[in-house]
Amino acid sequence: MLKLLILLTILGSIAAHLKDNANQIYIGTALSPSHFSDAQYQSIAAAEFNSLTPENEMKWDAVEPSQGNYNYGQADQLVQFAQQNGMKIRGHTLVWHSQVPGWVNGLSGDTLHQVMIDHITNEVTRYKGSIYAWDVVNEMFNEDGSYRQSIWYNNFQTQFVADAFTAAAAADPGAKLYINDYNIESINGKSTGLLNLVTQLKSQGVPIHGVGFQAHLAVGQIPSDLAANLQRFTALGLEVAITELDIKQNGQSQDAQAQAYTQVINACTSTSGCVGVTIWGFTDKYSWISSDNACPWDGNYQAKPAVSAIEQALK
Ligand code: G3I
Repeated sequence: MLKLLILLTILGSIAAHLKDNANQIYIGTALSPSHFSDAQYQSIAAAEFNSLTPENEMKWDAVEPSQGNYNYGQADQLVQFAQQNGMKIRGHTLVWHSQVPGWVNGLSGDTLHQVMIDHITNEVTRYKGSIYAWDVVNEMFNEDGSYRQSIWYNNFQTQFVADAFTAAAAADPGAKLYINDYNIESINGKSTGLLNLVTQLKSQGVPIHGVGFQAHLAVGQIPSDLAANLQRFTALGLEVAITELDIKQNGQSQDAQAQAYTQVINACTSTSGCVGVTIWGFTDKYSWISSDNACPWDGNYQAKPAVSAIEQALK
């Protein structure tokens, strides 16, 4: 009897991985190979998740620090890790106002345009066939739904968006091409500005396939209209994904945080066309949010209640 109980416990713990329940949607995490010397980091990432997003390693400053000199070492490590562990890869990110190397910031006009196309073509071609989805354009809106002043918008207005997606599609026709942003989880000015842009891009025949909702959230502030908002976008024939989820504890209990994670996963699973949820780093040990315990695992790799809540919600 005791042996049977031990066996069942072992089997239970073997089965209790998030990805084993992620049949309807994928469950991903942002990763960085700079933490790969930490064995627990690697083993939990491989055991629990079936998708990864490079946290920084595919950004422009990491990949092309000077013109035409491409450095894919760290990005390659992540691609290899994903392939060894049966994980999808979300490529992040091609055109963004941030993490743009200094040499790009000095350019304008046709030269800048050509540099953008070259960068996209080189990076997307390198990983052709390996990347499930690319965040082609990242964070191009202000909070009121107007366009962010950036090197891209200031030079090309919104034309850079169509051109970036077209270049990415030419380099890897099999990849899903996304636009990605934060604070667009509820129905608000920013998400409506984005909705208007993607509606226009679709009507122009631009190859855009998905919208990424970053979802950097806090307990007590999970939008009640998240699913309704996602459905505004799937109604256009686009897929959607939660791409950078973390939930600050915000002075609340870990159980309240677990409930908040459940709410977000439920919004995705209840939306036909919501294909997956990616957590922006699974452990507080390396989270970009240093002080508010936003991840499902704590800084010592202990699972918080959020882990079993996510597991249940995925079922
Ligand atoms: O790699 C350098 C290192 O050489 C240097 O010694 C060190 C000193 O500060 O900086 C290191 O670069 C840092 C990099 O992360 C890698 O650790 C940058 O300073 C730091 O700004 C950068 O922060 C990242 C941030 O994006 C800016 O790119 C965060 O890790 C990353 O989590 C965060 O992710 C973003 C998404 O890409 C887009 N959405 C929001 C999200 C959170 O801000």
